[in-house]
Amino acid sequence: MNLNKVDIDWDKLGFDAVETRSMFIATCSIDGEWTGGSLMPYGKIELSPAAGVLNYGQGVFEGTKAFHTSKDNIVLFRIDRNAKRMAWSTKRMCIPQMDPDFFIQAVMETVKDNLDYVPPYGKGSMYIRPIVWGTAPALGVRAVAEYTFIVFVSPVGSYFKGGVKPLNLKVETNYHRAAPRGIGNAKAIGNYSASLYPLTMAKKEGFDEVIYLDSVDGERVEELGSANLFICKDGIIKTPKLSGSILDGVTRDSVCRIASDILGIQVEETDIYLRDMLEADEVFCTGTAVIVTPVGRITYEGQVHEFAHGGIGPITNKCKETLTALQRQEINDPFGWLHSVIKKG
Ligand code: COI
Repeated sequence: MNLNKVDIDWDKLGFDAVETRSMFIATCSIDGEWTGGSLMPYGKIELSPAAGVLNYGQGVFEGTKAFHTSKDNIVLFRIDRNAKRMAWSTKRMCIPQMDPDFFIQAVMETVKDNLDYVPPYGKGSMYIRPIVWGTAPALGVRAVAEYTFIVFVSPVGSYFKGGVKPLNLKVETNYHRAAPRGIGNAKAIGNYSASLYPLTMAKKEGFDEVIYLDSVDGERVEELGSANLFICKDGIIKTPKLSGSILDGVTRDSVCRIASDILGIQVEETDIYLRDMLEADEVFCTGTAVIVTPVGRITYEGQVHEFAHGGIGPITNKCKETLTALQRQEINDPFGWLHSVIKKG
């Protein structure tokens, strides 16, 4: 198998949509099952202005990655977890529930057809965006009659501008991300549009992102708009427990497993109160896009709190290094998390 690459400056990759060769597309009626589908040239799609997704936000997505590894293989990371979450998100948003095998096969087909866009070993990764929308028209609020599923891909580098430098965050006290028993634990597009205003305001103030508090009493930290949150105190790692309004992140779970099973660090999924976070030794965030990113500073009510002297703490660093080494086959994968697309070595 030839793993030649397209002509891209791999050292300049950020987190933007780069046009690739093809995307996968399939449709399904509300009473149907997800089957079939095919690759088509990457490009624009046509939609009715009355499409369910455009009017009432009926859409969910996933984010996963393919890696070119040290052994010259192309692998997916824990794609079964994304497939399972897609099944849950589609069900929650009244979209025909997507079968995990169908999802994985669509992702595989798309990656295989765009192999030359997977960044070379050590130069980033291919971000994979499976997304489903209600595409039939509706004027009244209802689940529409037809759905479109697309998988597109893009080579990516760092999510945050400035590469891997520690983040400067603020605690968001004016807006919430999600409510208990709402859609915070589904990967619904609306969760991300709700985060745009607080994010834009925070960026104007010089912050990279915001930390949301729970919407019941505003005492516990939940997550960022684009990532899950972790703290470390006295050698113990803690992350907010899955309460219903927090996204069950694949990287969140991977870091918990790596920390406890490989690094021998105690991990707790629990309530994290604001003061726990502000008094932590290290804070970091996790996500497919952000991987493991250290948090250097958090501002709460005008006061700036610094972590790990504004740099990357030792536990954060170990989690990040171990996760990325596993994804790139630099260390053994004891969990069986890697799924081969192309196997050479
Ligand atoms: C991911 O980490 O894949 C996400 O879905 C977050 C997205 C906002 C970039």
